[in-house]
Amino acid sequence: MNPSDIFILAIESSCDDTAAAILHNRKALSNIVATQQIHQAYGGVVPELASRAHQQNIVPLVHRALDIANIDKKQLSAIAFTRGPGLLGSLLVGTSFAKSLSMGLEIPLIEVNHMEAHILSHFLETEDASVPAFPFLAMTISGGHTQIVLVRGYFEMEVLGETLDDAVGEAFDKSAKLLGLPYPGGPLIDAYAQLGDPDKFTFPIPKVGGLDFSFSGLKTSILYFLQRETAADPGFIERERNAICASIQKTIVEILMRKLKKAVRETGINRVALAGGVAANSGIRKALKQAESEWGWTTHIPPLEYCTDNAAMIGIAGYLKYLDGRFTDLGTPATARYTIGSSGGKEIV
Ligand code: KG4
Ligand code: ZN
Repeated sequence: MNPSDIFILAIESSCDDTAAAILHNRKALSNIVATQQIHQAYGGVVPELASRAHQQNIVPLVHRALDIANIDKKQLSAIAFTRGPGLLGSLLVGTSFAKSLSMGLEIPLIEVNHMEAHILSHFLETEDASVPAFPFLAMTISGGHTQIVLVRGYFEMEVLGETLDDAVGEAFDKSAKLLGLPYPGGPLIDAYAQLGDPDKFTFPIPKVGGLDFSFSGLKTSILYFLQRETAADPGFIERERNAICASIQKTIVEILMRKLKKAVRETGINRVALAGGVAANSGIRKALKQAESEWGWTTHIPPLEYCTDNAAMIGIAGYLKYLDGRFTDLGTPATARYTIGSSGGKEIV
């Protein structure tokens, strides 16, 4: 085998999606996700059920990822896994599996920070070859996080601002729940928003200092608004669903874009990359594209399959660490809290 042919098996199990991918250098040969439907019945992720489902999914999923990539496990160069942040019971499944397999195959193990991986997904080889140049600003927007990160290098990241309460994905999902939509409601709000008038209703933009965010006030104001309107007209939500969704989405996009503009102004860096599940949102994608023509920004948005939780992003982070000799020993524990920029030293297995 050519020494420049690196094959990484990547495993992601931080929340409710079990995911596996095989990378050949920067390219994903396979990238598959087993989404756990069971949580829909509860309107949110139930940690115990998530970890049980990971246990059931992980072995067949890894076999399938190898099959699709047409790779034998003996060809693997290393195994990368999500160490955190996330639900501990879920992380333990992927971490233990990765450790056992790396021991069995006698290949190195690489731990990956899930949030750094969302950002590094920009370095996967795709049809659109443009990768962000350093330094750039990344806005990571997901169901668990909302951060603006200054990215100076693959492993040199600094959080400039973050949410003080709910993550933006939660704001979407909780608003959707108030509208009686199933979990996760973010993509549904997006879909209905395309059909409605975004200027029909207004919700307040929170006043939060610096580059931090807050979304809990928005949720409360939507709750009171809906209570008021439905008291007068019980059919209000059904009749106005599209306009309500469009107005909520417009407000959330406005909150995100205001802070992003502030970050660009303060750092003087106008290269901006989106990452995380909410980067799939059509409103934020459109606003970012407009920023290119309006303010001369250079923007980067990953393909949809690399926005939501996936293992290819863990694979690219693993590949970049592999090249840099950043391996992990078997004693490295999963960790529910894991700050961006604090990952992976150069321990050797
Ligand atoms: O990154 P991700 O897949 O998982 C976490 O690490 O949290 O993000 C999931 C979040 C959910 O809150 C989901 O509702 C939201 O991303 N989401 C969207 C859209 N697609 C996914 N929110 C708004 N519009 C979308 N199109
Ligand atoms: Zn995520």
